[in-house]
Amino acid sequence: MKPVILDVDTGLDDACALLLAARHPDLDLRAVTCVGGNVGLDDVVINTLTVLEAAGRTDVPVARGAALPLLQPMLTAPHVHGVDGLGDLDWPRSTRSPSTTPAVELLRQVLLDGAAKGEPVTLIPLAPMTNIALLLRTYPEAAAGLREIVFMGGGAGIGNVTASAEFNVYTDPEAAAIVLAAAGELGVPVTMYGLDVFYDVVVTLEQARGLGGSPAADLARKLIEKRTELYGDGGASIGDGGAVCAVIDPDGLTTERFPVRVELAGSWSRGRTIVDTRDFAIDRSTDPDGVSPTVIEVATAVDASRYAELWLGAVK
Ligand code: BDR
Ligand code: CA
Repeated sequence: MKPVILDVDTGLDDACALLLAARHPDLDLRAVTCVGGNVGLDDVVINTLTVLEAAGRTDVPVARGAALPLLQPMLTAPHVHGVDGLGDLDWPRSTRSPSTTPAVELLRQVLLDGAAKGEPVTLIPLAPMTNIALLLRTYPEAAAGLREIVFMGGGAGIGNVTASAEFNVYTDPEAAAIVLAAAGELGVPVTMYGLDVFYDVVVTLEQARGLGGSPAADLARKLIEKRTELYGDGGASIGDGGAVCAVIDPDGLTTERFPVRVELAGSWSRGRTIVDTRDFAIDRSTDPDGVSPTVIEVATAVDASRYAELWLGAVK
């Protein structure tokens, strides 16, 4: 089993990701850390506990992380995820409490434990990367327990929250820039599961309506139905869930290695991930800012039906 940690701002599609990570037999979900994003942190924590309960995984530690981005004001997305972040579904909300250990501390503990056991952990951030930036700057030694980072965010082409930028990076660009820089410095491999593939893994309403008979399957069906009602057409993307698929089944994802920077200024481009598709061997020491970008794997195509089947098989 592959040890993983999810960092989430649950979120309808974070919920799709959590159900998959909690239920798939190839993954060992060691912790879930929460960050403010799609909704405020209190709702993120409740939603995360709620989804893990539905998945029958009350054993997984859940920790509170950063409520706010590093520098800028908070931006949420109730129009995408509902006021409570989980689509305002008719579903009982968890009354459990999260761990008393803060997210950055839990991340450090689980990663150092992974390092000590020779079982490096895959970190899957599906939200603004505030917690991860704080972790890597506070405890860089925890990188010894990191096998890789596979994050949902950014994109080489389109944006969503603006024409240039994707929500998770746009809402805390400094954090994303720190994570990329730290990963480069610490030698942690990074894969960007961005908007170039994010919308492709669609579960149809017909497929979703075949789900049922367990709390996890009932919730999975409701998530797809709600996402379809809000902005789908005959079905909906599992969104963040695709990044978890990429960890379970990397052969379903096509990636290319590119140097990537995060735009921190710009009138219309703040929060954009600038994917440098020029000749890879180009000498970047002449770049105006003199700062080397981090070379990462950028997802460019996905086997969408394979990942949709993977998700359906795990949550049914
Ligand atoms: C990302 O932002 C959030 O709305 C989703 O949960 C996903 O992580 C897509 O831009
Ligand atoms: Ca998310």
